[in-house]
Amino acid sequence: MPVHRLTPILFCLLHMWRILSSHPQHSPCQMKQRTVLCNNGKLSSVPAGLPDNIEELQLNYNHIQTLQDNSLLQYPSLNTLSLACNSMQKLEANTFKDSKLLEGLNLANNDLDIGYQETSCALKKLAGLRYLDLSENKLDDEMAATLLQNLTSLEYLNLSGNMLRRLDETSFSDLHQLKELDLQRNTLFEIDSAFDGNPKLQRLSLAFNYLTCLTDFHMTQLVVLNASHNFIEWFISRQDLNDTFQLETLDLSDNKLLFFPFLPSQSHLRNLYLSHNRVSFYEHLSDNDTSPDSPKTVEFYNLKRNNNNVTAQLWNDSLHGDISSLEILDLSGNLVQYFPQGFIHKMPVLSRLRMYTNCLETLNLTLEHFSGSLYELDISNNRLNQIVADEGTLTTFGNLTYLNLSLNDLDWLSSGLFSSLPSLRSVDLSYNNIDICLPVEAETSTDNISACVDWRNIVSLRQLYLKGCNLKRIPPSSFTGLSLTHLELSDNSGLTVQQSLQSLSKMLQHLGLGNTQIQDFDFSNFQSLKSLNISGNFLTQLPPSLLSLDLKLLDLRDNRLSTIPSGQAITLAPKLQTLFLTGNPFNCCETEWFRTFETTKTINMVGQSYIECEDLFTTHRVSDSQSFECDEEDVESLLWYIILFVSVCLPFVGISIVVLLTVKPQIVKKSIKKKCLKPTSY
Ligand SMILES: *[C@@H]1O[C@H](CO)[C@@H](O)[C@H](O)[C@H]1NC(C)=O
Ligand SMILES: *[C@@H]1O[C@H](CO)[C@@H](O)[C@H](O)[C@H]1NC(C)=O
Ligand SMILES: *[C@@H]1O[C@H](CO)[C@@H](O)[C@H](O)[C@H]1NC(C)=O
Ligand SMILES: *[C@@H]1O[C@H](CO)[C@@H](O)[C@H](O)[C@H]1NC(C)=O
Ligand SMILES: *[C@@H]1O[C@H](CO)[C@@H](O)[C@H](O)[C@H]1NC(C)=O
Ligand SMILES: *[C@@H]1O[C@H](CO)[C@@H](O)[C@H](O)[C@H]1NC(C)=O
Ligand SMILES: *[C@@H]1O[C@H](CO)[C@@H](O)[C@H](O)[C@H]1NC(C)=O
Ligand SMILES: *[C@@H]1O[C@H](CO)[C@@H](O)[C@H](O)[C@H]1NC(C)=O
Ligand SMILES: *[C@@H]1O[C@H](CO)[C@@H](O)[C@H](O)[C@H]1NC(C)=O
Ligand SMILES: *[C@@H]1O[C@H](CO)[C@@H](O)[C@H](O)[C@H]1NC(C)=O
Ligand SMILES: *[C@@H]1O[C@H](CO)[C@@H](O)[C@H](O)[C@H]1NC(C)=O
Ligand SMILES: *[C@@H]1O[C@H](CO)[C@@H](O)[C@H](O)[C@H]1NC(C)=O
Repeated sequence: MPVHRLTPILFCLLHMWRILSSHPQHSPCQMKQRTVLCNNGKLSSVPAGLPDNIEELQLNYNHIQTLQDNSLLQYPSLNTLSLACNSMQKLEANTFKDSKLLEGLNLANNDLDIGYQETSCALKKLAGLRYLDLSENKLDDEMAATLLQNLTSLEYLNLSGNMLRRLDETSFSDLHQLKELDLQRNTLFEIDSAFDGNPKLQRLSLAFNYLTCLTDFHMTQLVVLNASHNFIEWFISRQDLNDTFQLETLDLSDNKLLFFPFLPSQSHLRNLYLSHNRVSFYEHLSDNDTSPDSPKTVEFYNLKRNNNNVTAQLWNDSLHGDISSLEILDLSGNLVQYFPQGFIHKMPVLSRLRMYTNCLETLNLTLEHFSGSLYELDISNNRLNQIVADEGTLTTFGNLTYLNLSLNDLDWLSSGLFSSLPSLRSVDLSYNNIDICLPVEAETSTDNISACVDWRNIVSLRQLYLKGCNLKRIPPSSFTGLSLTHLELSDNSGLTVQQSLQSLSKMLQHLGLGNTQIQDFDFSNFQSLKSLNISGNFLTQLPPSLLSLDLKLLDLRDNRLSTIPSGQAITLAPKLQTLFLTGNPFNCCETEWFRTFETTKTINMVGQSYIECEDLFTTHRVSDSQSFECDEEDVESLLWYIILFVSVCLPFVGISIVVLLTVKPQIVKKSIKKKCLKPTSY
């Protein structure tokens, strides 16, 4: 073959070899445009031979313990480098000598506490670094301060999960451009003027630390402050500032606040999270001459600089700062007994108020002047026994959509409360002592307050929860005019409902009838039903009317089912997604249904291994089918064994008894003799 014909072939082979060798089958790296992903590759150094124009390199989850001086020389265009989870101990001082373009560096989850000094020299070369993640590196105060020296262009810094204990004005003093700082999950107990050198800081997380107070808060530029999960008793912002604080979100949940926080006197605060504290209001204690000795103010001294003492007026609830922009207020899990006068009225754009698990005793909606934008009101699990409102007031709740009143002692409600709310979609009245009005009561009632509830013709209502209300009967026309998709009536023992539900049958998707003792309910009209709870009802068989439905979830726990006939199981299996069956006395000898459901991959049989059955002798797990004694022949032969055993043993038992009886007197005598013959001690 002439040489000139061979050349192209050779060239082609050479080319293929190059491709294969530069992209070997097992290469830990993948390329996507200018990004190279080498995560999880068991690499102990930065791979050489990658294209030299790459801009992003990810080397997370490898074994690179030291980033050597020469390892990045080849990649001068690198803009983002990620080395998280490498057990890395240090970056050599000249690693970034030529990495002029590097802006993002992720060093999370390494061991930089070991080589932080040399690493600090390396970082100093990064004049354009904007994003740095140093989370989870066991860094203490001094190490962090060293690492952060001269990082004047840094905008985003993550120091979460380290061992920082206290911060002062030197901690972040070089970070003039810092916008976001994550300090969560350290052991911070003191912060002293630490952020004065960061005038651009907008987002700060201090969650999960050991802070006991945030007094003298004066970071006017901050937009989000998260100080949840600390031990904060006092939050006091500096009151003498004329500037408007930019603060929009303040999270102080899971702390130890006793007082509503002393917020800035001018701010744009929109979201205030205070759940799980001990907040209460103390208006009733102000101006109380009966106890003149009680303190009226509390002062916080700044030990270093005397000019910043903070004084808080304790009992004056009107001094709690600017809440006029609040949209979300979460006070759940506190000790609030009442709202101070005018408090709610100060929040004209409030849309979600979460007050569950507090100590509210009464709520007068007229008095409080809620805003028309209220969308969600959750006052469940309080001590409310009545909710009052005059008719004019109710018309202002035009946007109220979600109302949770469960777990109170309600027995009086404003009549027409629900029917006056045009946007109401979801009402939870569970675990109260309410009754449903009889049609006569509803129409003739002239009182402004009523002991029964009525929601006929509320067209917007979709979800109604009436669990555990001691309801015995639901009047036939109670649900007329409603388009409910979700009705929860569980835990109303002895309830009769069949008739009243028929008007809902077309729309209803979830029906809860657990613990109601219903027996033979006809579900055949409920063709939209997707989820049905009939647990705890002594049912001995599956209601046949269920079979025509397209159920996705079925709760049959704690009934008296002994089996589910094969045909029924086969009908249900392809439709169901979630099935609860525990707590039924199933018969081990008829468990074909279990196999059917078990082999249907689309079903989640919740608590599958806890479903039990009984055979002749004992209780088993249904999944444990080898151990059942169901074979009739086995049982028969076992019976024969028993009869044989008894017939053989009986004569022996008889003889033993006779012998015992004849010997007994002697035993008795002997023992008496023994006792009498016992030598005495004297
Ligand atoms: C780093 O900052 C210190 C002061 O904080 C300064 O003295 C030093 O010159 C800076 N070094 C570099 C390399 O910029
Ligand atoms: C900081 O890092 C931690 C742990 O690596 C992570 O969970 C957190 O989301 C990061 N913070 C931010 C603001 O990205
Ligand atoms: C505050 O931080 C905690 C812990 O990281 C987080 O669960 C919570 O969602 C944060 N709060 C806000 C308002 O983002
Ligand atoms: C705030 O403004 C008032 C009057 O508008 C002024 O008297 C006071 O000095 C200002 N305070 C500060 C700290 O600027
Ligand atoms: C004064 O305080 C007592 C308890 O110390 C309280 O019972 C009483 O209601 C208060 N009086 C006024 C006028 O708030
Ligand atoms: C702050 O309190 C300290 C301690 O009582 C006191 O010496 C100092 O004068 C106070 N400073 C101001 C500005 O009130
Ligand atoms: C609470 O403070 C406000 C504003 O300074 C004041 O008008 C009001 O009289 C104070 N109320 C009480 C009870 O001290
Ligand atoms: C509710 O508040 C209004 C307005 O202050 C008042 O007129 C009404 O008497 C209060 N109702 C009850 C039952 O306290
Ligand atoms: C009610 O909600 C709608 C849509 O979310 C909003 O446009 C409207 O302003 C709200 N009404 C009031 C009175 O806030
Ligand atoms: C109403 O509040 C209770 C208790 O806080 C809660 O368990 C329930 O899920 C809430 N109801 C709805 C419909 O979210
Ligand atoms: C019901 O409210 C109206 C005004 O809304 C009032 O005139 C009337 O007296 C109230 N009736 C009762 C029984 O409280
Ligand atoms: C069904 O109702 C019972 C009784 O209220 C309840 O305990 C159970 O959690 C409910 N099942 C589901 C799946 O929610």
